[in-house]
Amino acid sequence: MKTIKFGLIGIGLMGREFASAAARWCHLLDMDLRPEIVALCSANPSAQRTDWYTNNFPTIKQVTNDHLQLLANPQVDAVYCAVPHHLHQQFYCDTITAGKHLLAEKPFGIDLPACQAIIAAMQAKPEVLVRVASQYIFYPAAQRILEMIDQQRFGRIIEIDSGFCHCSDLDPNKPLNWKRQVEFNGLYGSMGDLGLHIALPCARAGYEPIQTNAICSNIITQRPDPQTGRPVPCETYDNANLLTKLRDPKTDQTFPWTLRVNRIMPGEKNSWYFAIHGTKACARFSLKNPRSLEILEYAGKEQAWQQIDTGFETAYKTITGSIFEFGAPDAFMQMIAAFMYELAHNKPLNNAAACPTPQEMLWGHRLFTAALNSNQNRQTITF
Ligand SMILES: NC(=O)c1ccc[n+]([C@@H]2O[C@H](COP(=O)([O-])OP(=O)(O)OC[C@H]3O[C@@H](n4cnc5c(N)ncnc54)[C@H](O)[C@@H]3O)[C@@H](O)[C@H]2O)c1
Repeated sequence: MKTIKFGLIGIGLMGREFASAAARWCHLLDMDLRPEIVALCSANPSAQRTDWYTNNFPTIKQVTNDHLQLLANPQVDAVYCAVPHHLHQQFYCDTITAGKHLLAEKPFGIDLPACQAIIAAMQAKPEVLVRVASQYIFYPAAQRILEMIDQQRFGRIIEIDSGFCHCSDLDPNKPLNWKRQVEFNGLYGSMGDLGLHIALPCARAGYEPIQTNAICSNIITQRPDPQTGRPVPCETYDNANLLTKLRDPKTDQTFPWTLRVNRIMPGEKNSWYFAIHGTKACARFSLKNPRSLEILEYAGKEQAWQQIDTGFETAYKTITGSIFEFGAPDAFMQMIAAFMYELAHNKPLNNAAACPTPQEMLWGHRLFTAALNSNQNRQTITF
């Protein structure tokens, strides 16, 4: 199996997820390529947990606070870059220009112009593979729904209802961090943080937005400063509710899509959910009950929801028995497998199991920019 040497730029929450998945690569079967971590970059390596990385990964030979030094390292073939949103444009463009393959993080630029600038940099380096991390579509039930969409099993689509709901910000005493500051997270607020994850199935299906109407809410407007504990402004939107008209170009039919991107939704922890209702079939899945896939197939008589327990039924084969449960680190690993598969084969395994693309992120940026416009001007925005 050939080795692809990775540099990690950003070694916080997501950097460790990547490293952990790379460490148990033997879990996957039939892979052509294997990731090996050789370099780390973080803003302040001495203050961060570099020990966790260097103790667990003896292959790491470079630790730096300068991403350009990491990119100049000829040992590095590819980069996983997980840094705050205001750095995406610069760091992603530098990585692409350096000729390193890039697994980037969402939202792929702090705003629409940043996303477009990264895509422009890609055009000058077509030999570099650029994909984006968003793992939720790799849950077995989500994969089944995406395959059903590809097979046009739903008949005429009546509506889609999806969302991503957290409650981690319900506590007003939670200190401010970069994800709650416009300067670092962007104007989108929860849409930049959570929205791309749940916009993805509709972008992947090839649906086109026709019009959107959004209400964005800043519910907790002050939070304690992490250093002083004093209240400081918290200006990002906690929640966004969008009602969008989509068009399926395969059938020319249009239908409503209700999207809820809420960081403050009491009772929810990390609920990514997707429900699609059509005249021939309906399907729904929520991370609230992550092994359960519900399907209703209508053949003209009874209407009955079936509840299917999905197991460890993954796009990229693993050693795990198919009756076991699937979880968040598994979804993340499947997504990295999708990146490595595409690197090896120059094409994805199939449409459902493809790593998210920059074009899909652009789709989300257009939607969320329109949503901000709709909220600000109290108007329906047409595309
Ligand atoms: N896929 C997911 O489920 C998921 C979940 C959370 C976050 N994210 C995304 O991952 C990215 C990072 O989020 P996180 O939660 O890991 O953040 P984090 O705050 O835990 O880590 C950020 C890292 O960036 C580094 N950094 C900051 N400035 C830097 C600089 N100038 N040079 C080098 N490194 C610098 C920090 O040192 C830190 O290591 C964001 O784009 C976020 O939206 C994705």
